[in-house]
Amino acid sequence: MNTDSRQIRGRLREAPDALVERFTASVAFDRRLYRQDIRGSIAHCRMLGRVGVLTGGEVDRIVDGLQRIRAEIDDGTFVWRTELEDVHMNVEGRLVELIGETGKKLHTGRSRNDQVATDVRLYLRDAIDGILAQENALLAALLDLAERHRATVMPGYTHLQAAQPVTFGHHLLAWFEMLLRDRGRLLDCRARANVLPLGAGALAGTTFPIDPRSVAEELGFDAVAENSLDAVSDRDFAIEFSAAAAMTMMHFSRWCEELVLWNSQRFSFIDLPDRFCTGSSIMPQKKNPDVPELIRGKAGRVYGHLLALLTLMKGQPLAYNKDNQEDKEPLFDAVDTLEGCLAAMLGLVPNIEVDAQAMRAAAVEGFTTATDFADYLVRKGQPFRDAHGAVGRAVAHAVEQGKSLDALPLETLRDLAGPDVEADVFDVLSVDGSVAAREHVGGTAPEAVSRAIAAARNRI
Ligand code: ARG
Repeated sequence: MNTDSRQIRGRLREAPDALVERFTASVAFDRRLYRQDIRGSIAHCRMLGRVGVLTGGEVDRIVDGLQRIRAEIDDGTFVWRTELEDVHMNVEGRLVELIGETGKKLHTGRSRNDQVATDVRLYLRDAIDGILAQENALLAALLDLAERHRATVMPGYTHLQAAQPVTFGHHLLAWFEMLLRDRGRLLDCRARANVLPLGAGALAGTTFPIDPRSVAEELGFDAVAENSLDAVSDRDFAIEFSAAAAMTMMHFSRWCEELVLWNSQRFSFIDLPDRFCTGSSIMPQKKNPDVPELIRGKAGRVYGHLLALLTLMKGQPLAYNKDNQEDKEPLFDAVDTLEGCLAAMLGLVPNIEVDAQAMRAAAVEGFTTATDFADYLVRKGQPFRDAHGAVGRAVAHAVEQGKSLDALPLETLRDLAGPDVEADVFDVLSVDGSVAAREHVGGTAPEAVSRAIAAARNRI
């Protein structure tokens, strides 16, 4: 028998205890790496052929066997065996079963330590590329929605109190900036992850005349690891990814909090399509925003994975330790969660229905143009601090009267704020006047939003 766990027992006289076998096995979750594992093995094997460690015939048989194994796993006919511990030994075991003695040569000049580090980096690179594509689509969707709402006026908030009018397009561009930074963090992470550990062996390199540069080229890595000890033990890339993912989830959670608020009866700024909502098993009238709530909730698990990975690494002496096997489940789940939330966002964002009337009505309430009034008085010559006081008195008076500032007679405004108040004050007291006056870079005026959208299209 070539394929039982004796292949890796080495000096041990006993088979592992059944409990130990179950406890140490990772194949239940790392089987997910089979495509990367086989890709890496094919590249390694071809390199061994190029440097003369394997013959051309041996390389052909091994590559052919590995491709057959990939097809078996794709088809679901492959039999996974816990006693073979992990994806690497399962594939190698099957290779020996399929092609015989030659299969035993694949692992020449390699260890599972550099092998698994290679597999996880390949996996993460693929995952990041998929996530980047989703993020690009979401960035574009945000710009399209912002374009439609470049002049839709809503209240901007501080302390969740209506503060100053803004345009909804401008608000969406704030989300855009967050996600653009998230994308940048992923690109940084990708660059540092895209380094080949293969060749590091178990920890100290190998005595064979390997050519890792050619392996890196075949696998699309930008560089070869500079230090074998670091190559097998480094999991920074998993932590960096989780940190970037956690930050993105924090942003999504904030957006979703806003969606939930805006979708509530009290705000009624937006309506989420029925197909993105769920009902209640008891209250027939309910239309619950479960999707944004769930995204908000899922932020927690990704934060948890980040902390798990940081903690996993903090006590490890160089080089590889079995602890590292624990990197996979948090990383996989961080990827799955982020992908799932991005897909949900991509479904949700373009389909948000905006009630522009409700937004405008809320923007008009709450004296949101009081600052514009103060700025007006400054332009008429008052120092800002005096203007601030005068407008404060005007607001207090309006509150007493139960009126908005622009509903007060000009005479009253003059009495409260000074003789230089003229009829043109009513232009600055309107929400449209307020947003239109903020025309600068980063400002909320429809014109500024249009320019920002055009510039943003070149940034994605
Ligand atoms: N399943 C292991 C992991 O995920 C593969 C490497 C095992 N290496 C070892 N020396 N036991 O880390």
